[in-house]
Order: sequence, then structure tokens, then C-alpha cells
Amino acid sequence: MERLYRMLYPARVCLITSRLNGKDNVMSASWVFPMSMDPPLFGVSVSPKRHSHGMIRGGRAFGINLPGPELLQAVKACGTISGRDGIDKFLDAGLTKEQGANVPLIRECLAGIECDVVQEIEAGDHTVFVGKAVNVVKRKEGKGLYQSADGFVEI
Ligand SMILES: Cc1cc2nc3c(=O)[nH]c(=O)nc-3n(C[C@H](O)[C@H](O)[C@H](O)COP(=O)(O)O)c2cc1C
Repeated sequence: MERLYRMLYPARVCLITSRLNGKDNVMSASWVFPMSMDPPLFGVSVSPKRHSHGMIRGGRAFGINLPGPELLQAVKACGTISGRDGIDKFLDAGLTKEQGANVPLIRECLAGIECDVVQEIEAGDHTVFVGKAVNVVKRKEGKGLYQSADGFVEI
């Protein structure tokens, strides 16, 4: 089954930030996609197993942060460790928080899109959180980091 999904690779990897009750979290996600231009809507498909799932559901917001290739180790860390155990993944992965309206964004990333959740779609074993972009920060040009069939590539 995993091979079926690999047919769609490379897939851009993002760092998804969330905030609930004054606590922040970040997870890696490659199931992130544009859904509408007007209004500007973006979807992220998150498994209920992720700590981020409850945080996005409760906080009604998420940030889409676009890492460059130099953040590969941070992407790996944020994609394997859970914030559930009280670990501060920002600190752990060397990521600097930048204050957004409702969620933190990540200073080291090329760009960040802050979204307010406007809809949730139960999609099998994941939930698609549909977010309306409320704040866009573009910091620098650069190559993106993509998940490929046998690891990561920069494009
Ligand atoms: C490259 C990569 C892409 C990932 N994409 C997703 C995704 O799109 N959706 C998802 O639910 N989990 C995805 N994951 C898994 C989560 O990032 C991982 O389970 C993470 O530890 C969850 O952190 P949390 O429990 O703090 O939310 C991905 C992991 C990696 C390494």
C-alpha cells in the first residue's frame, strides 16, 4: 500500500505549528495542499494519533512553515518525536518561534502561512483540517525540501 502513495512523490514537506492553552507544538507533514484561491484555503491531513491533532482541533488554527534543505534534521526530529511527552520540539530541533496571531511561525523557514480552521473533514484514518490563510510571511527564496520514495530531495 505504501508503494501506491509513493507514486505521488516527491511531496513537499512542511512544518505544521499549533498552539493550545499557551503550549506550542510543531510536526512535520507532507500531506499539505492548496484547496481554494478565493477564499485562500489550505488543507493539512493529520492523523488523530498525533499530538498536533488535538492541538489544532482545540486551538482552531495551524501554521504551514516551508523549510529549506538545511532544516532536514529538524524535519526528521519533528516527524518522529511527539510533543505529547512534554518535549519542546522547537528547542530540540533548534527552531525559533516567531509570534503569529494565533500560532507561532518558524523564523528559519522560507515562508509561513498562518491559517484559521474553518472546516474539518474526517477522511478515513486522518482528519483534513481546512484552514483559511490569515497571515502570510515570505522571508527568503530557496529550494524546498521534499519527501521522495527513498528519503528526501531538495528542489
Ligand atoms: C516527512 C514526514 C512527513 C509526515 N507527514 C505527515 C502528515 O502529512 N500527516 C500526519 O499526520 N503525520 C505526518 N508525519 C508524522 C508526524 O510528523 C509524526 O508522527 C510526529 O511525531 C507527530 O508529532 P506530534 O505527536 O507532536 O504531533 C510525517 C512525518 C515525516 C517525517
